[in-house]
Amino acid sequence: MKRIKCGIEGIDGITNGFPMGRSMLVTGDAGSGKTIFGLQFARSSCIQGYKTVYITTEEDASDLYTQGDTFNWDLKSYTENGLLSFNELAGVRARVTEAEMSIDIGSMKGSFSKFVNELPEDTQTVIIDNIGSYTAKLTPYEFRDRFDLLIYDLKMRDITALVILDSATSNEFNEIALFSVYGALRLMKRENPYTGRRERVMDIMKMRSTKTPTQFISYEINSNGITVI
Ligand SMILES: Nc1ncnc2c1ncn2[C@@H]1O[C@H](COP(=O)(O)OP(=O)(O)O)[C@@H](O)[C@H]1O
Ligand SMILES: [Mg+2]
Repeated sequence: MKRIKCGIEGIDGITNGFPMGRSMLVTGDAGSGKTIFGLQFARSSCIQGYKTVYITTEEDASDLYTQGDTFNWDLKSYTENGLLSFNELAGVRARVTEAEMSIDIGSMKGSFSKFVNELPEDTQTVIIDNIGSYTAKLTPYEFRDRFDLLIYDLKMRDITALVILDSATSNEFNEIALFSVYGALRLMKRENPYTGRRERVMDIMKMRSTKTPTQFISYEINSNGITVI
């Protein structure tokens, strides 16, 4: 199976990279680093020469370029040479009123297919940040159907995907998503029982056809982005 480096050395060292043409799920609380993970993966994908699309539902592209600048990633240069594009899903991004929200979901004709259908033909890598913005008012059954179909559509197009789902979305939805994807990582904060200090840890919950550690992996967010320590 071909692999793609996710751009976090410590993770690539352990896993050999993410399986290509498959979908990975990243979950976690607000501020845990999901978006930074997504941007770091997008940059890594570009460095490896893959056409990459970052779908953003919460922040606009300019904020994401700015976040990248704090790590000296110069994401603009990848956009300029045609490797990286940002797709802002307006409306949802602005956390619009309930009414507008349901219109937007209505326009998706009962599926998440919009995410895949609107991608340029030659797209190789996609980051969806964050699918939780599209779960309002869905029943667990509807969510499962849509999510499964999304993962299937991405696989049929041989696209490597990183799908972000926030913890504000119910546990039930998080568990449904976990079953459908090829691999999943959870970002969290926990108290270190020895030092009593809070630290960031990541759990590689699953990655098919890959040997993964059972222990939590400690990481920090520093001037290089997400760094395993
Ligand atoms: N340049 C930086 N250096 C160190 N930490 C940073 C930097 N930029 C952001 N952070 C940290 O990352 C957090 C935001 O991460 P983000 O990926 O946006 O979280 P999420 O998408 O999970 O809500 C901030 O709360 C801050 O703690
Ligand atoms: Mg985010």
